Amino acid sequence: MNPIIAPSILAADFARLGHEVKAVLDAGADVIHFDVMDNHYVPNLSFGPVVLNSLKTHFPETEFDVHLMVKPVENMIDAFLDGGASYISIHPEATNHVHAALNRIRRGGAKAGIVLNPSTSLNVLDELQGNFDLVLVMSVNPGFGGQKFIPETFRKLEKARKLLDSHGSDARLAVDGGVSLENIREAWQSGADFFVAGSSIFSSSNYKTIIDKMRSELS
Ligand code: DX5
Ligand code: ZN
Repeated sequence: MNPIIAPSILAADFARLGHEVKAVLDAGADVIHFDVMDNHYVPNLSFGPVVLNSLKTHFPETEFDVHLMVKPVENMIDAFLDGGASYISIHPEATNHVHAALNRIRRGGAKAGIVLNPSTSLNVLDELQGNFDLVLVMSVNPGFGGQKFIPETFRKLEKARKLLDSHGSDARLAVDGGVSLENIREAWQSGADFFVAGSSIFSSSNYKTIIDKMRSELS
């Protein structure tokens, strides 16, 4: 599977958000990662469906990868489906009914993702096999951009990759948090094929250079 590079706009300049999205797309981004935070599931606030709606209007061909750090999550799923999300990922801790939430996302026409915090067991992937299209392994604790990559994530990615392969799953395996030129190659070698990166891309002076360099690590 071709690796996907997904800049997280949490690290973008919000006063120029449309320009920032266009700039990373022109620089070769595959999808746009959209971090939704509610000051309840995580201790931070970001943006919601109206922002997605607006971006989707300006970038109708672009795939938006919505990462919901929101509890309870059920009530928000439809708004992001309506907003044009291509992927919607949920944390199992954010609902009592993970299976139902994943299936609601799929029925709404988006790809369904399950997010694993650093402390969340991979067992949930066994229970839910066949019900998701993406596994998003957090390499930081969710809530803030710009954190340091947790090195134990490599082992977790390896285990997740083995599990997905043993299920014959074609789900994507994503890594999110502190991804940079220093660790993207090892994350890829550990089995990831989808790379979310916020600050390492948006703090760079040339988005194309950094995205090209990241991609060159993935071969
Ligand atoms: C953390 C978010 C991440 C994060 C990525 O809660 O899910 O998507 O913003 O940003 P960096 O790459 O800066 O860690
Ligand atoms: Zn995220």
